[in-house]
Amino acid sequence: MTEPIKWVEKDRSAKNVFWPTEEMKRHAWVADEAIYEQAAADPEGFWAKQAEEISWIKRWGKTYQFEPHNYKWFVGGKLNISFNSLDRHIEAGKGDKIALIWEPEPTETEVIKLTYTELHREVCKFANVLKGLGVKKGDRVGIYLPMIPEAVVAMQACARIGAPHSVVFSAFSPESLRDRLIDAGAKILITADGYFRRTKKIDLKRNADAGVEGTDVEKVIVVNRLGDGAQMTADRDLWYHELMADASDHCLPEEMDSEDLLFILYTSGTTGKPKGVVHTTGGYAVQAAITTKWNFNLHDDDVFWCTADVGWITGHTYVNYGPLMNGSTSVIYEGSPDAPDYGRMWAIIAKHKVTALYTAPTAIRMCVKWGDQWPAKHNLSSLRILGTVGEPINLDAWLWYFEKIGGGRCPIIDTWWQTETGANMINSLPGIGPFMPTIAGRPFPGINAQILEVGGKMQLPPGEGGYLAIGGPLPPALLRGVYRDPERFKDQYFSEYGPEYYFTGDGARKDEPGNVRITGRVDDVMNVAGHRLATAEVESALAQNDKVSEVAVVSRPHDLKGEVPVAFVLLKVGADHSDEIRKELIKTVDSVIGPTARPDEIVFVDNVPKTRSGKIMRRLLKSLVRNEPLGDTSTLVNPECVDELKGLTSYKG
Ligand code: PRX
Repeated sequence: MTEPIKWVEKDRSAKNVFWPTEEMKRHAWVADEAIYEQAAADPEGFWAKQAEEISWIKRWGKTYQFEPHNYKWFVGGKLNISFNSLDRHIEAGKGDKIALIWEPEPTETEVIKLTYTELHREVCKFANVLKGLGVKKGDRVGIYLPMIPEAVVAMQACARIGAPHSVVFSAFSPESLRDRLIDAGAKILITADGYFRRTKKIDLKRNADAGVEGTDVEKVIVVNRLGDGAQMTADRDLWYHELMADASDHCLPEEMDSEDLLFILYTSGTTGKPKGVVHTTGGYAVQAAITTKWNFNLHDDDVFWCTADVGWITGHTYVNYGPLMNGSTSVIYEGSPDAPDYGRMWAIIAKHKVTALYTAPTAIRMCVKWGDQWPAKHNLSSLRILGTVGEPINLDAWLWYFEKIGGGRCPIIDTWWQTETGANMINSLPGIGPFMPTIAGRPFPGINAQILEVGGKMQLPPGEGGYLAIGGPLPPALLRGVYRDPERFKDQYFSEYGPEYYFTGDGARKDEPGNVRITGRVDDVMNVAGHRLATAEVESALAQNDKVSEVAVVSRPHDLKGEVPVAFVLLKVGADHSDEIRKELIKTVDSVIGPTARPDEIVFVDNVPKTRSGKIMRRLLKSLVRNEPLGDTSTLVNPECVDELKGLTSYKG
């Protein structure tokens, strides 16, 4: 039994500051603070040392090379991330270790455990299936799969043959899938007949069928998850299991340049059109591997459960590549945390003796709401480390997680990062600490995160709020581009502070020792239950309903989901302000994006506040729904609509 984490000795007034136990310090990969200074003194040397932890076919020459908008890591190095995830461990004699544990949602369905040898075999076979269908290095492959082992197999198989994958979240609508397949130019889609979610069967194949229409997809590979006999389209659809039956299990990993494209992952920007974030191989592999190892302190006996879906970056890095590159055991769960009851997460931890749990604040808040009795029913003593990601975590949720789930023993690693950064950037390390609710911690060693003034480049002193930016050397796992849109890449990330600083889009401030508190997005991006969405995306979805004349969407804080969209809708003449139309609009959002984007409230208005140049003043709407002072409204062309809006919302001023 580990001793409880101690309250800070130095300053007792600073409640809620926790430090690692002696046991944790002994067990941790890094426990000496000097690592931060050493890495800051020679970041390239630091990353080169970490790169030696993985296998290279050919060693790199220059460690880091920077030209404006073009930065490279481990220049000229050759490697394969699937080799690093699988073959390497088998060669080291760990072939019999469990790589993946799949927990299906229905409790009567059998759990699947795949050893490294078994997973390797599946990946090689599926890589050969893809090759047999003509997929070559550089060809983009669409993946639209639920949380089943084949999702990991498919990503690994793509990586093995050098075909960049583009995973689309399985709860996204056909339209979202279509846009992403078209943008990526995918000719192959891997999907499933369906999956279980909250005890119901979800027909994924129907969405996939609708989504591939109008794309260049020639072949659709279908995993038979439900076994209900999905409708197959002749000459296009192929069953995964039939293809696998004849495939050879021998497939040499493709030699990939360090800067070869590994995957594209679409995420929300500030406009209505999602952007394809481009990640390359070497730098991503190194940072994914080391952050997984150090943040979750993975050793041979660990069982790691990152609850993220493979459709998000967290699923890419901390369900698949990170744990597997560390030869760890990674748990994946198919379904919902409330199926069959509110204790499912805790039952899974007890059943598989999970040692490190990584989840989102929104999930924690939901569990708080469901009550302490659910975790109390299960033995959670296997847990050693807890992690959170995706949004700021509030004090109550943090303390609940710490006490009720971690039993006061487990440090909480609050990791700040983004789809664009590929891997963790800011967090306290388990052997060093401190662990403080609502504060992510220090930048990971070798990461040069700065709080910069707004409108200038000055580094702000502790306590002052500014924009979070990352200076050089730019992190190894940082995106290398926006797929087929170099201008957007420059504009979005390197115009605020120039090419030397990556602009994150987040506000933040630091304390004296350099711990960072994230204050939230400074652009029109929301985090809804850990899902990233642009207000503009929800607007363009609503605008597709032909009753809508004009629409403005802003975010509002929400107890459980962190943030939710609120829509101000001006209907066309003849449409009445009814609940029927509200329902219809929700349906429109569901079909264009998916249920995650549903507005929490739809306010029908006769006017939206506009500037003289005709732009909707969203800032004012945001203040209205947040009950904040409205600020200057003198630039409005229609100031009279402000009073009307106050009456329509719960604004108290
Ligand atoms: O606003 C920050 C928030 O999530 C954004 C990135 O979202 P996404 O690309 O979907 O990636 C989420 C998973 C890595 C960031 O710009 N965010 C992420 N982690 C944290 C966070 N906000 C506060 N604390 C965090 N730990």
